[in-house]
Amino acid sequence: MSSQAPLWSALCRQANRISFHMPAHRQGRVFSREWIESLTRCDTTELERTGDLTVPSEHVKEAYDLAAAYFGAGETWFVTTGTTIAIRVMIASALFEGDAIIMPRAVHMAAVHAVALLGLNPHFVTSSDGRRFEDGQPDAESFIAAMRTRPDAKAVYVTCPDYYGRTIDLRMIAVEAHRLGMTLLVDEAHGAHFAAAPGILPPTALSQGADFVVQSAHKTLPALTPASLLHLSKDGIACGRLCPLRVAAMVRVFQTSSPSFMIAASTDLARAVISRQGYAPWQRLTELNRQVVDLLPAYYQRVAPPGSDKSRLVIDYSRLGRGRKEMVAKLDYAGIDAELVDHRRIVFIPAIDHPESDYEILARTLSSVLPAENSLFAERHVRRLKELENLRDSLFSARASWLLTPRQALFGDPSHAERSETMAKVADHAENHCGGAMKMASHAIAPYPPGMPIAWPGENIGERHDTYIQMLQESNVAVYD
Ligand SMILES: Cc1ncc(COP(=O)(O)O)c(C=O)c1O
Repeated sequence: MSSQAPLWSALCRQANRISFHMPAHRQGRVFSREWIESLTRCDTTELERTGDLTVPSEHVKEAYDLAAAYFGAGETWFVTTGTTIAIRVMIASALFEGDAIIMPRAVHMAAVHAVALLGLNPHFVTSSDGRRFEDGQPDAESFIAAMRTRPDAKAVYVTCPDYYGRTIDLRMIAVEAHRLGMTLLVDEAHGAHFAAAPGILPPTALSQGADFVVQSAHKTLPALTPASLLHLSKDGIACGRLCPLRVAAMVRVFQTSSPSFMIAASTDLARAVISRQGYAPWQRLTELNRQVVDLLPAYYQRVAPPGSDKSRLVIDYSRLGRGRKEMVAKLDYAGIDAELVDHRRIVFIPAIDHPESDYEILARTLSSVLPAENSLFAERHVRRLKELENLRDSLFSARASWLLTPRQALFGDPSHAERSETMAKVADHAENHCGGAMKMASHAIAPYPPGMPIAWPGENIGERHDTYIQMLQESNVAVYD
């Protein structure tokens, strides 16, 4: 029997890397010594003195109430099993089996799986004039148009901000959703910090009229992975659009029966820290991000459209004419870990206490990468990038093409008559019309990160999906397929 612990050993070897990624505690460096020492003492269970995270009372309730007051919610839950689970709780609290929900195709896989588990009827947001949405993220007007074509839907589901820190006008969507009697659910996984600095950071989903909001505290706050927050709006509770009792029941359905006190305590403490520190850390981060961009050669461009989260640093490196693998290798060699490197952009998530020395190394490293000299190579690179992005946006913006429902595809018995019949028809059609190229996705097919599917379970997939996946894999992008 081996006494080795390879995972532990490998992780320990990562100790001195420069972390510009989630969790936003920089490998614990943001935590005080006292906090680290008390960490394992907080790893306890439901005792008379500790209370129960699933049936909040006394100090658990006090912590939830302080969080609700800070984030501007009517009620807040700590979900210690990630926003993946908070999304399930949120969707299951707002809809019943068979209900229609309006959402883009490009949502995090957690939402896809919730829709499948609950047997919901997803109605994708598409544009009436065939326009493609960049990275699959529709504008507010397209959400509103989709709501008007399906006024029977019970809820509308929006991701805001997206992985690149971009936001949309949720206020407009909220007004229309409430006019039509729909509940507005917002995946604000990347915006748990917005409440900390209004005016500097984008407005929170709750302040814009969202009913349910989920946030990954671990992504941008000094909290442990996978600390998550589930908020219910004051107005939604008062108007009866949300039912706190149903939420409590759904927390018990989806959350483990041993929720981590350690993670819950870290959520409580993260809220206390950001509320004590106020605007200062976010002002500092926005300033550091601005300064580092000023130091970079002009072939780097910051991606920061109006309304986006300026505490996140997104750099477009496409003018360099260099490929993704090369950029990943350069950063890796300098000891820098970014959150995401796609074919055009690098996403850096700095932590509230990020040292200036990390920024200096980042500026030096990026500046040391020179544009490709071979113009033929650079031209080919630009052509390929355009091709890839066109394909990405057209796949992400496509109308649904269901062969089975997501629930039948993921959980249906393969020998069940309805499923076997559908699969036989798919094979037959592929044989006769597509040279064998038509298939059905039996699960979500998604590049990761960010984990948004180009095909949902039960959808018809073809050559274009294969081409896109192949292009991603050639540049070492992981794809759940
Ligand atoms: C937009 C979005 N929603 C939800 C999630 C799931 O969050 P968690 O990792 O906290 O489960 C992610 C994870 O990256 C995400 O990017």
